[in-house]
Amino acid sequence: MNQPQEPDQYGVVGHPVTHSWSPFIHGMFAKSTAQNLVYRLFDIPPDNFRRESLRLFTSGVRGLNVTVPHKQAAAELVNELTPRAARAQAVNTITLRDDTTLLGDNTDGVGLACDLEQNLKLQLAGKRILMLGAGGAVRGVLGPLFEREPLELMIANRTVKRAQKLADEFADLGTIDYCSFEELQGPPYDLIINGTSASLQGETPALPAGLVGEHTICYDMAYGRGHTPFTLWAKSLNAGRTSKGWGMLVEQAAASFLIWRGIRPQTRPVLDALAQHS
Ligand code: ATR
Repeated sequence: MNQPQEPDQYGVVGHPVTHSWSPFIHGMFAKSTAQNLVYRLFDIPPDNFRRESLRLFTSGVRGLNVTVPHKQAAAELVNELTPRAARAQAVNTITLRDDTTLLGDNTDGVGLACDLEQNLKLQLAGKRILMLGAGGAVRGVLGPLFEREPLELMIANRTVKRAQKLADEFADLGTIDYCSFEELQGPPYDLIINGTSASLQGETPALPAGLVGEHTICYDMAYGRGHTPFTLWAKSLNAGRTSKGWGMLVEQAAASFLIWRGIRPQTRPVLDALAQHS
């Protein structure tokens, strides 16, 4: 009789990572597509990222998602980048290929765009968009946001130099303005996306008044139970709508799953299951 095959191993590396819902999401995907895999959390501090990630791949792991704060380090770790990951210089999906080289990809941008357009039914063309943050998460989404041809894309960051660097790196796609949080001004934006990791510390960037109007949509890439500090801030200013990053999380995961397993899982059942926790 044939022995049952060992499940293929995947996971997510981050620090902190205990809050991650990725094992639940990939577990549901695996079940619904009948894929024999396990997906685990790996909490790895920045100093050990390179050594520990390589050790995981040599010990049988076939693919890793990468989250805060390792996305840029992951772009330096892999042997090759897909065009969209090279554009972002940030990686959220690593695949071990048959020739034992590592391929880095970035599915954050398609994940966010898919959630905004398909799940939330937003139109981005011609809109004024404010992006808060200039780290690895934001790098991944700027390219796909630009492809939607917004009227304005402003990046504000606590450390202005990082926002300026991003604006310079992406200048060939179009004009990106940048400033500090204090320099931000109205009129209200159509869409404000919080791409900072401030929510993880229970904080929200200190933003001036006048950015949020009754039509403004405020999207937090972070997710959790109840409001995040950012969505709470938006609600207090009577934002038209607030959303947390559950949809982005699920859609980027589906795109990673497709890369690893060659099958695109249905996301609706997972979104519905997560809605009970959000
Ligand atoms: P990620 O992969 O999540 O983007 P990162 O590359 O470490 O992680 O970037 C974190 C982002 O959140 C940065 O834009 C950071 O601002 P700085 O560039 O000034 O460090 C921002 N951030 C983190 N904590 C914050 C806080 N408490 N208030 C405002 N911005 C914060």
